[in-house]
Amino acid sequence: MNIGILSDLHIDTNNPGCSVPVEEALCEAALAQKVDLLLIGGDISNNSATTLKTLRYIRERLSIPCLFVPGNHDLWNIHDPERTAWDSYRELQAFEGNLANGAYMINEEWAVVGDIGWYDYSFGAESYTKEEFDRMTLGERTWQDSLFALWDRPTTEVCDYFVQKLDKQLSALRDKKVIVMTHVLPHRYFTVPYAPEVWGYFNAFLGSEQYGKLIESYASSVKLAVCGHVHYRKSQTFGSTLYVCSCLGYTREWSNPGDARAEVAKALTVIELASLEERSPLNA
Ligand SMILES: [Fe+2]
Repeated sequence: MNIGILSDLHIDTNNPGCSVPVEEALCEAALAQKVDLLLIGGDISNNSATTLKTLRYIRERLSIPCLFVPGNHDLWNIHDPERTAWDSYRELQAFEGNLANGAYMINEEWAVVGDIGWYDYSFGAESYTKEEFDRMTLGERTWQDSLFALWDRPTTEVCDYFVQKLDKQLSALRDKKVIVMTHVLPHRYFTVPYAPEVWGYFNAFLGSEQYGKLIESYASSVKLAVCGHVHYRKSQTFGSTLYVCSCLGYTREWSNPGDARAEVAKALTVIELASLEERSPLNA
C-alpha cells in the first residue's frame, strides 16, 4: 500500500498563478505515483468552505481514502470576522476523512490518528517571555493567527487540548501500529534554523515539543509522524519513528513558480506501508 503525503496546498494563494489548479495537480500526481491512501496535513486554503469543497473534489476524483487534519489557515475567518476557529473546525468535520472525527483504521493492524495541534511557544527562544509570545508581534511583523484564528481559550490551552485528545487516542491504540498526523510541528528539528533574530521569536508559533514527547512515549506503536505548517520538505528518524514534513508551500517558494504539476509531483511524499512495518529501534 502506497501512502501519499502532502500539506500546505494554499490553493487560494497559489492557483491564480498556476498552470493547473494545485488540487488537480495533486490528483494527477497521486494517480501517477499509485497512491492508495492520501494524507493531507492541513492549510488547503484560508477558508473552511473552500477547503471542504476541495477535499470533496480530491476524494471523488481519486476514489481512494483521503485523510485530513485542518491547518491554522483552514480555520481563518478573513471572509467572516464573526466566525471562531471552532466554527470552522466543526464545519470541516463534515468531511468524513477528517481525523478530527476520530482514528481511521487502514486494516486490523494499522491506524491513522491526528488533529491540527497548536503551539505553546516551546519552540521559541528562551529570551522571550510568555507575555511577549502572547502578543504574537515582533517589530512590524504580526503572526496572523492572532487576527484570524479566534479560539475560546488562551493559545497554550488550545495546544494542551489537542495534546490531551491525542494522548487519549494513542492510549486506545497501544496494540496497533500507528501513523500520527498533526498540522503543527511535533519536533524542534523542523523549526526554522536561520535568522534567529526573527525566527527565535516566530518559531514559537510552529508547534510544540509536547507532541514529540507524546509520540516518543508511544514509540512502540507510532511508526510514522506527519506534520506540515513550516513549508519544509524534510524527514528524519527519531528512535524508531519516521517524522515526515511534506509541504507544497507558496508558489513563490517553488523551484519553478507556477508549474503546479511539476512542483506537486516533486513535493508529494510516497511511502510504502510495508517499509514502516519493518521499523524497530534496532533497524530504524
Ligand atoms: Fe500552517
